[in-house]
Amino acid sequence: MKNGILQCVAVLAALLFCAPAFAAPLQLKTSFKRDVQPVIHDYCLNCHEPGGKGYEKSGLDMRTYQSLMKGTRFGAVIKPGDSFTSILIQVVEGRVHASIKMPYGMSGGLARDKVELLKKWVDQGALDN
Ligand code: HEC
Repeated sequence: MKNGILQCVAVLAALLFCAPAFAAPLQLKTSFKRDVQPVIHDYCLNCHEPGGKGYEKSGLDMRTYQSLMKGTRFGAVIKPGDSFTSILIQVVEGRVHASIKMPYGMSGGLARDKVELLKKWVDQGALDN
């Protein structure tokens, strides 16, 4: 009986000890410059810079971190730390309405890994890093 408890404690201790090693890859810090900007450049910027139809219609200019954080002419589209309520994430996930799923008109939408990356960046505070 006592042995069983000791074994149990040993297993728990081992699990606790190993947990950070498993969790680490999931918590890797995303970077605006390294991770987010290339996605914006490839999938959003065409329309979201002056002259583009996304910019003309919404006012959202995605050329720089500052202009991105400023949002549309109605306000911010990113709420640092909260991807669920961030409009930018809602529109790439198509959660608002199918007619404003971003990138606009792209069949299938943004690849899952890119959506996850944007979400992670927002959840980690949407830093200018
Ligand atoms: C083909 C052009 C095009 C591309 C590419 C595009 N957008 Fe848009 N975007 C638009 C248009 C047009 C609107 C205005 C939609 C409307 O108000 O009906 C818009 C609006 C938005 C809005 C504001 C939505 C709101 O509720 O006000 C966000 C946020 C947005 N886009 C994010 C993105 C992101 C992120 C990408 C890249 C993953 C992207 N867009 C790519 C055309 C585009």
